[in-house]
Amino acid sequence: MSMKDRLIVALDLPSTAEAEAMTAHCGDAVSFYKIGLQLLPVGGMDLCQKLRTAGKKVFLDFKLHDIPTTVEKATRSIASRGGDLLTVHAEPPVMRAAVKGRGDDPDLKLLGVTVLTSYDDAMLTEMGYTMSAHDLVMRRVEQCLEAGMDGVIASPLEAAEIREKFGDQLLIVTPGIRPSWSSKDDQARAAIPADALRNGATHLVVGRPVNAAPDPAEAARKILEEMEAA
Ligand code: C5P
Repeated sequence: MSMKDRLIVALDLPSTAEAEAMTAHCGDAVSFYKIGLQLLPVGGMDLCQKLRTAGKKVFLDFKLHDIPTTVEKATRSIASRGGDLLTVHAEPPVMRAAVKGRGDDPDLKLLGVTVLTSYDDAMLTEMGYTMSAHDLVMRRVEQCLEAGMDGVIASPLEAAEIREKFGDQLLIVTPGIRPSWSSKDDQARAAIPADALRNGATHLVVGRPVNAAPDPAEAARKILEEMEAA
């Protein structure tokens, strides 16, 4: 896999017009984009089709979480429109339903969202969990494998332990990437691109360091250089 196929730029923008302006500006510098909850309700799926027709890959960050029948049907609908990566919450019934709904679509890879990185141990206790966030992440990674998922979303700091425990069986997609020259924003547990790769991440998701940069194409090229050097 080339480094370009491992860098995913998040299109966290308010409209498809702004997203398309950015993808046009980035041109060949970026070949993988993430479309999430901000853009999905305002034309995100049409944009996904356009990007894929233009030869780009698209990560659809739906974070599905519902009763199994609904998750299965939603996954089937999404697969029928086409995408390369899709997220669902990493609870066994949800994941099994997504695997069923995906059918034998060879393109759409399913990723489990283990524990949102905005949750800490105190919040999990408040929600009724008795496990720490760390233990719950590791438990859910195991359950991702059992359910037949293709990969997990994890922080770059968790990636090393996941790789060590579970080997090469899963894609590990890590948000919370911050090159040394960019602001940390609200990412508390961030890592530089080289460290995320060394920890075993297969794909890096980068949002604001690229989409809020004065020159997004240049920012993406700089990150790719750092990734190549690692
Ligand atoms: O701008 P930034 O690089 O922080 O964007 C990261 C992207 O990854 C955002 O789209 C955010 O929703 C997503 N994400 C995250 N942390 C998670 C899961 C997804 O930052 N645990």
